[in-house]
Amino acid sequence: MTTTSSRTLPMLSSGDVLAALADLRRRQPVQYAAFYSSQLGGIVTDPALMLIPFDDHIVHRGHGIFDTAGLVNGRIYDLEAHLDRFLGSAERSRLALPCSRDEMRRIIVQTTAASGRRDGAIRYWLSSGPGSLELSPAAGAAPGFFVMVFGGLAYPDRWYSEGLRVMTTTYPIKPPLYAVTKATNYLPNVLMQMEAKAAGLDNGVFIDPRGNVGESSNMNVAFVTEDGVLRHPTFEHVLAGCTSLRLLELAPALVRDQLIAGVEVCDVPVEDARRAREMMLLGSSVKVAPVVEWDGRAVGSGRPGPVSRALLQLLEEDMRTSDRLIDVPYT
Ligand SMILES: Cc1ncc(COP(=O)(O)O)c(C=O)c1O
Repeated sequence: MTTTSSRTLPMLSSGDVLAALADLRRRQPVQYAAFYSSQLGGIVTDPALMLIPFDDHIVHRGHGIFDTAGLVNGRIYDLEAHLDRFLGSAERSRLALPCSRDEMRRIIVQTTAASGRRDGAIRYWLSSGPGSLELSPAAGAAPGFFVMVFGGLAYPDRWYSEGLRVMTTTYPIKPPLYAVTKATNYLPNVLMQMEAKAAGLDNGVFIDPRGNVGESSNMNVAFVTEDGVLRHPTFEHVLAGCTSLRLLELAPALVRDQLIAGVEVCDVPVEDARRAREMMLLGSSVKVAPVVEWDGRAVGSGRPGPVSRALLQLLEEDMRTSDRLIDVPYT
């Protein structure tokens, strides 16, 4: 027999709602420094007010896209590469743009300035907008553009000093169209990470139906082969990581230093990958982290390797000194 509580649910005023939202954030503090919403028409810094309408199709149908750029020492790193990918994801998702690329960049930079944060991450979303609970965008729906400046994702120091332990996930990889599009549909990625954590491991790895290595939850995967070649899976079936693309440009410096024998972007069959000297995860948040164990077997020596370390140094140097940095005009 089902029973229902006899307690009558309260009818809330807008004041009640604001108080409840503030209370929710007090109970669960967050490090969100500034939020822009095209729907609100400006920036808020109170996390209780960082809201999206429940009927925006990004919420109930996942019809939205996002991207994340790093904020390093008061400068935004490689934003143009992230905007290229954002616009590509928008096109593949058939999402209308709320404004020009220049205007989006201006909003991102201004929201970052308003946050006062000098380090962290900037995540921004494009939604198909509110107005119905249908699948296709509601009639007259205006696309939403949202920007969040926050502390960024943090990973344990141990990942860099000792290396990660990963497993091949039991969840299927997204089909290529969805894998290359950074849409707000991360269910396979979420489930993969939860599966790994439940097994006492750090993360998972997707394998494609042809037996080639794909990517990790929110990171790409790369290897150093037995003969010293830095090998990265092709970007036809995984997200084109801005970090990977940049490192593939920088890595020839390691060939000159004779640390690696070459750089290749090609299919990486699992059986070849298992013989790798080094394995690593790459991404804007993780940067470069060595994997020392995969499916219970040691990768290479079972210790973080020199190429992962050198790539991390190259990336950190680029994040400090390259011409891919935008100065944030803090006031
Ligand atoms: C599924 C997936 N693969 C790879 C990456 C790495 O991309 P990036 O280097 O641009 O952070 C990310 C992160 O955005 C991701 O979510």
